[in-house]
Amino acid sequence: MKFGHFDDVSKEYVITAPDTPLPWINYLGNEDFFTILSNTCGGYSFYRDARLRRLTRYRYNNCPLDSEGFHIYIKDGNIIWNPGWQPVKTPLDSYCCRHGLGYSVISGEKNGLSAKQEFLVPMGSNCLLMRVTCENKSGASKRFSLFPYLEFCLWDALDDSSNFQRNYSTGEVEVSGNAIYHKTEYRERRNHYAVFWANRDPAGFDTSRDSFIGTYGSPAVPDAVISGCCKNSVAHGWQPIAAQQFDITLGPGEAYSLIFGLGYIENSDDDKWEEPGIINKAQARRMISEYDSDEAFSRAFNDLRDYWERLLSNYRISSSVEKLDRMVNIWNQYQCMVTFNMSRSASYFESGMGRGMGFRDSCQDLFGFVHMIPERARERILDIASTQLPDGSAYHQYQPLTKKGNLAVGSGFNDDPLWLIAGTDAYLRETGDWSILNESVDFDNDASLAQPLIEHLRRSFSFTASHLGPHGLPLIGRADWNDCLNLNCFSEHPGESFQITGANEGPVAESVFIAGMFVKYGKAWVDILRHMKLDSEAAEAEAAVLSMEKTVLEHGWDGEWFRRAYDAFGHVVGGRECDEGQIFLEPQGMCVMAGIGKDSGEAEKALKSVQKYLDTEYGVVLLTPAYTRYHLELGEISSYPPGYKENAGIFCHNNPWITCAETVLGHGNRAFETYSRICPSYTEDISDIHRTEPYVYSQMIAGKDAAGFGEAKNSWLTGTAAWTFLSISQAILGIKPTLDGLLIDPCIPADCKEYNVSRRYRGAVYNITVKNPASVEHGIKEIRLNGDICHNNLLPLLPSGETADVQVIMGT
Ligand code: BGC
Repeated sequence: MKFGHFDDVSKEYVITAPDTPLPWINYLGNEDFFTILSNTCGGYSFYRDARLRRLTRYRYNNCPLDSEGFHIYIKDGNIIWNPGWQPVKTPLDSYCCRHGLGYSVISGEKNGLSAKQEFLVPMGSNCLLMRVTCENKSGASKRFSLFPYLEFCLWDALDDSSNFQRNYSTGEVEVSGNAIYHKTEYRERRNHYAVFWANRDPAGFDTSRDSFIGTYGSPAVPDAVISGCCKNSVAHGWQPIAAQQFDITLGPGEAYSLIFGLGYIENSDDDKWEEPGIINKAQARRMISEYDSDEAFSRAFNDLRDYWERLLSNYRISSSVEKLDRMVNIWNQYQCMVTFNMSRSASYFESGMGRGMGFRDSCQDLFGFVHMIPERARERILDIASTQLPDGSAYHQYQPLTKKGNLAVGSGFNDDPLWLIAGTDAYLRETGDWSILNESVDFDNDASLAQPLIEHLRRSFSFTASHLGPHGLPLIGRADWNDCLNLNCFSEHPGESFQITGANEGPVAESVFIAGMFVKYGKAWVDILRHMKLDSEAAEAEAAVLSMEKTVLEHGWDGEWFRRAYDAFGHVVGGRECDEGQIFLEPQGMCVMAGIGKDSGEAEKALKSVQKYLDTEYGVVLLTPAYTRYHLELGEISSYPPGYKENAGIFCHNNPWITCAETVLGHGNRAFETYSRICPSYTEDISDIHRTEPYVYSQMIAGKDAAGFGEAKNSWLTGTAAWTFLSISQAILGIKPTLDGLLIDPCIPADCKEYNVSRRYRGAVYNITVKNPASVEHGIKEIRLNGDICHNNLLPLLPSGETADVQVIMGT
């Protein structure tokens, strides 16, 4: 069952019923100011950091009630309604939500009156704009009132939702003209405030929630709207809000529009006040006047569209498969931008208060983003690297506002360091910008420890190479990619964090997965060293990689698949002798991607086992059989009920590892099967089962052991976005950036006859047409560049600004 449809021409998903199975959200903002907006106008805004600079309030445990956000109320006679249906939930005569790239348009109609809310965050501005357009479609004149309403957050979202004994006394606002200023704590150490404004004069306002909503009211029955009149309240403490009242009369066929804004302003410390106690509003006034007309709003809209048009033009496919094209050209890339911006910090499932930017997560997010804005990828790599610890290990996360490692979330996840090599390698392959390796970068944000970036990569590699366990496999530390495989934790007390309990230095648990990573990204490191002409170091690194490959085949191979790990007692995890958790997905994907056992047959067997034991109709589960009881020696993984999350859920993030691994072996049919099974546009028809947004990936789909098999959770912020983009754009469609240029190496379903990819790469545009007359899955017969035969499948680098025609014929 569907609740809307794709509109590929407008690059929108059109939701036609407001009561979607869960709130279906969109992200507005591409740079510093962000808003999360649901299809019924719920959501919140923040500046850079969803925890430390939250502008508006959202109550998470209400989800999916979703009643805080950017609602407008319309009181038309005795009927009160919202164009987005929530929070009053008056049945509408029509409803539509169009989520587009960086904007959303939500409209409703009731009793001959239509109202449309258009939301966007303009490029280069720290504000959210909302244009409201009402039209009288009835045959008679209409007089009605319109009330916008939002609730301010007192900046630190965590403190805001817990420290009431202080917060209920600190709230402060100023009202001036058409604007309401939220200035809590500005009198002391803050130099920033928020402003909500309208481009017309309101008939009234409220800034106290008690006045507008009522102490025992709710957003569904706000006192002021029911009485038809705001009370001009000025908040002192309690809960500051911004609400206004507009009384509007429209003749038949007449329309009326209003522009609202929510802005974030910072003043310098010596320029905070206009007069004692009155905040300096000069910047806010400039912002307000910049967007005071329909023309200004439309200009901001067009700028945003142009921005996305440009970004998406770096990789564009045209095939005869609509579902594929819309994901590759629009939604997958869009989600990559959002995950790049947010990492795992702020969504409807990530509260923005617990997690910041993940070290490994942000490194992987680069895979799907680096081709869009390489300059921002560069900056991100340097930010991540500057949180790295001097021995090469890493804090697991850092806060986006401070860019400092966050010890509360721990360190000692021993896969983290290698992801820095992976992310930097992706950047080098995309850009050829070797200068990044010479950039001086702090260790642990301490300038006195700064070293060139290449030294950071060196320490990443040698951290793994020098932390090996009894079998010669890498020590796992607190966990590897699978945060929940906590082999050194032994937590017995409820509430203890699995991620920071127990020792991480000392215990001997080992990871076959990190071994696979060491081989895959170790090879990338060797290539980088060779490019830098550091030949003897490259030879040494290569020897360590080859030796690890042998160790994996000796101690990591179980007969039919790769083992997962050895626990702290040296027992196998993910092997035949285990009663639960016999086979895991991760080492099969990573080891085969690394090429381990490719020539000796283990790789082929491992992927067959994935298909035989881990495949389901909704995707590949993470392990089987699921853990049915808590295993002290395994940690959080066994704390989840069977089929959920890391305990045998369909963890979408590593499904594309299998897709990529299949292409290493030339299996195009199977690669595309694993790609399409979890692909949102392919699962749109089961939105009622899936429940999350059909235009983006979710982190997890409940596995076959779960009561809710097929139900997805944690949409939007997941490494799935970057990995699936990599799997489809590079592994399947075969347009692969390398250190030396673009390599053409498709691995596609045999029945795919032809497609075209336009790829902007290092400033040149390659128009690549792939034809498959012999219905093969892999292999190239001929490549021509501008009509000339190429002698291998590495395209020559072209001067920036040039366009080339590339004709590829697959075959044997
Ligand atoms: C985390 C990832 C981790 C994955 C598997 C996600 O929630 O953000 O860093 O690799 O879970 O545990």
